[in-house]
Amino acid sequence: MKINIGIIGCGNIAQSVHLPILIKNPDIKSIFVSDTDMRALENTCKRFGIKACRSFQDYRKFLDQVDAVFILTPPHTHHALVIDCLKYGRHVFVEKPLCMTAEEAVDIKKLAEDTGLIVETGYNLRFMPQLRLAKKLLKRGHIGRVITVNGYYLAEAAYMRENKTFYLDPDKGGGVLMDGLCHLIDISSWFMDSTIVEAYGFTGIYDDLPVDNIANISIRFENGITGHLQAIWAPLSEYLHTGDLKTIKIVGDQGVLAPEIYSGRIKEYRTRKGTHTIYPKNMDLRNPMWALGRSYLDQDTDFINRIKKGSNNLNKLKESARIVEILDSIKKYGAFKK
Ligand SMILES: NC(=O)c1ccc[n+]([C@@H]2O[C@H](COP(=O)([O-])OP(=O)(O)OC[C@H]3O[C@@H](n4cnc5c(N)ncnc54)[C@H](O)[C@@H]3O)[C@@H](O)[C@H]2O)c1
Repeated sequence: MKINIGIIGCGNIAQSVHLPILIKNPDIKSIFVSDTDMRALENTCKRFGIKACRSFQDYRKFLDQVDAVFILTPPHTHHALVIDCLKYGRHVFVEKPLCMTAEEAVDIKKLAEDTGLIVETGYNLRFMPQLRLAKKLLKRGHIGRVITVNGYYLAEAAYMRENKTFYLDPDKGGGVLMDGLCHLIDISSWFMDSTIVEAYGFTGIYDDLPVDNIANISIRFENGITGHLQAIWAPLSEYLHTGDLKTIKIVGDQGVLAPEIYSGRIKEYRTRKGTHTIYPKNMDLRNPMWALGRSYLDQDTDFINRIKKGSNNLNKLKESARIVEILDSIKKYGAFKK
């Protein structure tokens, strides 16, 4: 069975990540695209060879012809679009963060549960090959019992890109808390196999931006483990994908596992067993973007496969909703407690 896909939003992530992957997926029959901005829509159709009959400014014009929708628009639009697509009976992939507020997250979770439709959020780090390998090593007891987790995400200074206005608008989901820290919350919870029940944090602005470009939180998981996460927009884009500027450090009672979030490497420091650098199987060492590319490919393929098999993952949706609750609460009160 082949499926039809609709894309809402033909901006950066649609053009650089999802469309190049989806047009090559053998399980997809047709792709429909929409964007309220005519120029973005026309560019996309030209670049990906999409016919005029599959291109619309209003996504509602293709909802009756698709099985699932990719929502690739700024965060402040996510809630209304997800709800509309679910009400229309369509599975949804929505880019991170799921939505803007705790109330919106509850709303989406409820409708997804009621309809049984899949709602997947674009937390692609879970699909990074080195992070998957690191999780396996952790489960095998490589560093003993986990004591704490620390995440450090030096992200691209999104606000320096041209035409990226939503990143600079707090009402549209701008700022590094929403843009980068959400990834760290997701990946640390995934590593710990536990939910964050308590968080305290601060955001900061190191220049004259209208949104935060430094975000810090201290966290406690349901299983008692504590940690610290920090995300920064930094004007260092030439180094961000290669080195250890984005890492998770998981400290155990018999060592430390430190997978680099983008480069693909894992460094381990094991009590009486030495330090090693580990790479996932088949890694292309000459390509610094290999792990990132694989994460997006595996993420989108997994979503398409789950539609085909009818296999839902409501737990993952609950985790995405929890991330929004934490971000919303940190923004409003500097604290989150469940
Ligand atoms: N997972 C990742 O690694 C990653 C990376 C970058 C961006 N993102 C996420 O992807 C989303 C989009 O980011 P981007 O950088 O592509 O933004 P962008 O501004 O480049 O593109 C967004 C597009 O959506 C369109 N749009 C807005 N409202 C619309 C509507 N109601 N209907 C149709 N089109 C509409 C805009 O015209 C624009 O073309 C954000 O949620 C962002 O956080 C995720």
